[in-house]
Amino acid sequence: MQNFDFYNPVQVLFGKGQIANLGMLLAPYSRIMLLYGGGSIMQNGVYEQIKAALGEKSCIEFGGIEANPTYETLMRAVEIGRNGQIDFILAAGGGSVIDGAKFVAAAIPFQDGDPWQILEKWGRNVHSATPFGCVLTLAATGSETNCASVITQAATRSKRSFSNRAVFARFAIMDPQTQYSLPPRQIGNGVVDSFVHVVEQYLTQDCQAAVQDRLAEGILLTLIEQGPKALQEPQNYAVRADLMWAASMALNGMCGVGVIQDWSTHMVGHELTALYGLDHAQTLAVVLPAMLRERRAQKQNKLLQFARRVWQLESREASPEAVCEMAIAKTEQFFREMGVKTRLSEYGLDSQAIEAVQNALRAHRMVSLGEQRDITPEVVGRVLQRCL
Ligand code: NZQ
Ligand code: ZN
Repeated sequence: MQNFDFYNPVQVLFGKGQIANLGMLLAPYSRIMLLYGGGSIMQNGVYEQIKAALGEKSCIEFGGIEANPTYETLMRAVEIGRNGQIDFILAAGGGSVIDGAKFVAAAIPFQDGDPWQILEKWGRNVHSATPFGCVLTLAATGSETNCASVITQAATRSKRSFSNRAVFARFAIMDPQTQYSLPPRQIGNGVVDSFVHVVEQYLTQDCQAAVQDRLAEGILLTLIEQGPKALQEPQNYAVRADLMWAASMALNGMCGVGVIQDWSTHMVGHELTALYGLDHAQTLAVVLPAMLRERRAQKQNKLLQFARRVWQLESREASPEAVCEMAIAKTEQFFREMGVKTRLSEYGLDSQAIEAVQNALRAHRMVSLGEQRDITPEVVGRVLQRCL
């Protein structure tokens, strides 16, 4: 196991009715700004629950944060927040609204020029942030319990990320019932995103980190078991609770401590979203199987462990290469079972997308990806050829 420095201060209030505790959580603050997305919280009762919990407390509202939140929209919130001298930001929604809140929280006190610089410098130039908390309504990104954020500059089609410990939420309210209103597409997306988060931290090299490996495998098995049930029984509380906690555990830092991580699938996926508007998880479902096939030799030991412990595939009757391929095929099949397509052509894209993604990666200095830092834009070109 490698050395590590683990820190996660997020207070999690999990379960039925937890939104009612907002009044107590927000007692120390007087000037609150509520951020939300395109309106789902108005339709599923989350907004009403928040308003009831806030009681008489005054609150500036800013809605319209889009999926894959944009710098342009968020800068309007930054201006309102600065003018209103707000002292707390409350985000209600999925990963996009929570990521947006992190950017707004960091940008309000930012004094080093244009807040886009936060993305250019990966958050290393963030020294403070307005405190924020969140009400999660979509289990997928783990944003509620991590300190990362992904923001798109619409004008340049740049999807960039930053992380900084100043943008951990003060609290995350996770009531699985808020997800009953999710459309099937978002249920599938959430399961695929969580799955790939674990894989990007687990399916690399053996780091002799037994706890992290077993935790990763436990989350993957839970997603495989419960994901399809969420599609079949959208109002099954136990299933929703397992998936909500699985998504958070997948990216709250616990799986990734002390191990070598990959993240190449995510970096390629971000470019596909920025260029062509695919949902985040759709890009992952396309890229991951191809990336694993391309990197089979480098990842073989871990792929065999994944095959054995997650997919119950034994290597006695088949060659190691064949067992790895079976595990990758099972993974791809699982994504499809969750309703997420796995080929670029199924999203209307052809080989022209390959060069565009390569150019975008070069422009964003993403030229040595993967756990061995040897996934160049040329390698990405081969991966995307496999995705057509
Ligand atoms: O905008 P509203 O009206 O709220 O609708 C949203 C949106 O249309 C809807 N939705 C959310 N909760 C709902 C609901 N609809 C009905 N009922 C509910 N309870 O779902 C749609 C998608 O929401 P979004 O927040 O965009 O989805 P997700 O949570 O998957 O977030 C995706 C964003 O997170 C980033 C992605 O790149 C993408 O921008 N990521 C953030 C990460 C992080 N911070 O650690 C890591 C991830 O790898 C990822 O990159
Ligand atoms: Zn993701």
